[in-house]
Amino acid sequence: MLISFLTVFFLVSRGIRAMSGNSERTFIMIKPDGVHRGLVGKIVQRFEEKGFKLVSMKFMWASDDLLAKHYADLSSKPFFGGLVKYMSSGPIVPMVWEGLNVVKTGRVMLGATNPADSAPGTIRGDYCVQVGRNICHGSDSVESAQKEINLWFTEKEQIGWTPAQKEWVYED
Ligand code: RTP
Ligand code: MG
Repeated sequence: MLISFLTVFFLVSRGIRAMSGNSERTFIMIKPDGVHRGLVGKIVQRFEEKGFKLVSMKFMWASDDLLAKHYADLSSKPFFGGLVKYMSSGPIVPMVWEGLNVVKTGRVMLGATNPADSAPGTIRGDYCVQVGRNICHGSDSVESAQKEINLWFTEKEQIGWTPAQKEWVYED
């Protein structure tokens, strides 16, 4: 009883933290083509320069199993097999970024899924051409961000810190 109460409290408190104002978090991932093409620095730079806060980052080669969990919602799509093959074809850079409206703004910064429709100035609009090689991933809602962050990072890997620039990015 006590354990289930504590578990619910822990999950709710994590969820609230991830959803509140300036502390909203999203999961952004540089895909194998982004790594191979030497775009890691440029993509990270865009989020840093925007004023978002880096919470977690790693360089890894993901297993098919982890990728199948990450893309579970797309498992019935005809491109699912190719997607998992692409995502497991090389190293990737999963990250957590934090800030006001970071989920929505992060998606705007990435640009439309299909680079043919991505506006110039967005990451996909500037750096890629085809939907199956669109170099980056971003969570599509606060709820999916929470799920993805907990799939890719442990609590300990989510670093709590206050950037020195905070008061120059936010008025409160
Ligand atoms: P992402 O998850 O990567 O941020 O992209 P998204 O939400 O904009 O698009 P989603 O529907 O979640 O698709 C995930 C990834 O699957 C590949 N895809 N291929 N061949 C196709 O028609 C197709 N459609 C999607 C893309 O790599 C897409 O980012
Ligand atoms: Mg998606």
